[in-house]
Amino acid sequence: MASGEGSNFEALVTACRQGPLRGRVLQLVVNNPGCGAQRRAKRLNIPCTVADHRLHRRREDLDGVLIETFTAAGVDLVVMAGWMRIVTPRLIGAFPSRLINIHPSLLPSFRGLDAVGQALAAGVTLSGCTAHLVTEDLDGGPILAQATVPVLNEDDRMTLAARIHAQEHRLLPLAVALAAERLRDQG
Ligand code: GRF
Repeated sequence: MASGEGSNFEALVTACRQGPLRGRVLQLVVNNPGCGAQRRAKRLNIPCTVADHRLHRRREDLDGVLIETFTAAGVDLVVMAGWMRIVTPRLIGAFPSRLINIHPSLLPSFRGLDAVGQALAAGVTLSGCTAHLVTEDLDGGPILAQATVPVLNEDDRMTLAARIHAQEHRLLPLAVALAAERLRDQG
């Protein structure tokens, strides 16, 4: 699931195709027609469905489209790789322990929107990103993995976000592998 540039989506595809992730990206869903992620899916030959949130009055209806699409594709795990919409219990309940999100802060600090701006405003010297399982507690589900980056004096939103982004690309494939391992362990 992606809303914007889709660089995390591409990192997952690359990790599957070139290692270290043993898996396959079966399906992308985007909510913004024409977004970078959609273009990347075309280039990478991954089926992409557009589920435009503007065409659905209720969040649950958008989640219904996501569930149908992923069920038809036969996925084991669903990754919110830069998905900028709040998901509802409908989607969360359809993929228990199987729905992963990446967030650009060291959770539990700086949940919600503009996490990078929040970190800068708080004056922290260390930030990073968190991959976690999605529960109904927004940005509060069990943490799978985290990566840290320094916050430099001269940082602004763009420079800090870029440093975090680079770590997200490393972290997300590892977190997906961990989530898969957890599921196997649970039988
Ligand atoms: C990432 O920084 C992610 O943490 C946030 O949105 C950004 C998505 O980037 N939720 P991309 O679309 O994967 O390039």
